[in-house]
Amino acid sequence: MKLTLHRRYAFAASHRLHSPQLSDDENWRAYGKCNNPFGHGHNYIVEIAVSGPVDPETGMIANLADLDTYVQREVLDAFDHTYLNEQVPAFREMVPTTENVAREIFRRLENFPSARLERIKIQETSLNSFEYDRQKSGDSSS
Ligand code: NI
Repeated sequence: MKLTLHRRYAFAASHRLHSPQLSDDENWRAYGKCNNPFGHGHNYIVEIAVSGPVDPETGMIANLADLDTYVQREVLDAFDHTYLNEQVPAFREMVPTTENVAREIFRRLENFPSARLERIKIQETSLNSFEYDRQKSGDSSS
């Protein structure tokens, strides 16, 4: 029997939404004030879902300490208190919308060895959140 474990993490980061493929006017129309050249920040909350069988000896899907260590190393150390556009290499090529932040966090966590990463949900503000789901992503590597 498979169960799913959800765990939440938080980080703060700044970003600017600006696509090099669009003109300045088009960027302004697409992103509005999020295109401000000096950026702006968010307190992001990331919820991670991993699934697996319950280990008969421990009664757990995965050790939370192992998950915390992995998320800390792969995501929080790299993202917390950064300017995403310049300090996280993936966002030198990809606009750091929260959709793309979700994809990048999924990519960084998908090889977690102790359980299967099913989805991540990231909350950008109290009004917006985005979900990246292995099943729905069309990602053939699943
Ligand atoms: Ni923003």
